[in-house]
Amino acid sequence: MNASGAPTTIGPKAYEAWRAQSLGALTEAIELRAVLDLAGDVSGVRLLDAGCGDGALVATMAAKGAEVTGVDPDPAMLLAAQKRVADAGVKATFTEGRLEGLPFPDASFDVVASITVLCFLPDATGAFREMARVLRPGGRLVLGELGRWSLWAAQRRVRGWLGSRTWKAARFRTPGELRALAEQAGLRVTALRGAVYYPRIGWLARVMAPFDRWFGRLGTFGAAFLALRAEKP
Ligand SMILES: C[S@@+](CC[C@H](N)C(=O)[O-])C[C@H]1O[C@@H](n2cnc3c(N)ncnc32)[C@H](O)[C@@H]1O
Repeated sequence: MNASGAPTTIGPKAYEAWRAQSLGALTEAIELRAVLDLAGDVSGVRLLDAGCGDGALVATMAAKGAEVTGVDPDPAMLLAAQKRVADAGVKATFTEGRLEGLPFPDASFDVVASITVLCFLPDATGAFREMARVLRPGGRLVLGELGRWSLWAAQRRVRGWLGSRTWKAARFRTPGELRALAEQAGLRVTALRGAVYYPRIGWLARVMAPFDRWFGRLGTFGAAFLALRAEKP
């Protein structure tokens, strides 16, 4: 999620620092598991990571055999992503661009993934429309977002009230709102799950993390990470 609290303008160093903490590494691993569960087999598929950041998911998906394109408006993120992919010994393509106007023709991808990007965008409807446009019929969208009814989101709202411009502008959605956005874009939601049910406290995270899947069976309330899969008819 890069739930480090790092504003998107800070750049790749903050994200690296987040992953270097045990809470960050644990949380990233749980979120990645949720994303991979919903993405299914990606071997040989054309996959777009929209808002790819420093390329963690790009490198993972490329290692799994996907033909991956990463798009992000931040050149520093793209540089970090290129380095990560090169270090991992895999191949991927990167393009500067925004979700609201993806620089690809219609039906270019089998899978579109977008992880913790939507909450920063003023036009979520337009972003969903774009993701649906670049998906081929039968293709799937995998979206990850910070869940509105979670302690993590509450903490960020407080940071917004205290003056953080990033978190003041961010909009955290409910599962119902994410579902509605996907459906408005003509997609059929096939899964909506929660993950990361612990608060942003290291020792508690370590105690609760082994039960995360179990919490997920109870519902999405309290989940810091919401993962949605939707298909284009
Ligand atoms: C919280 S980071 C998530 C990065 C990556 N998806 C991950 O999970 O590690 C948000 C990313 O969204 C990117 N971003 C911000 N505005 C965007 C936009 N309009 N379109 C696409 N990406 C955007 C930022 O540059 C940043 O890399």
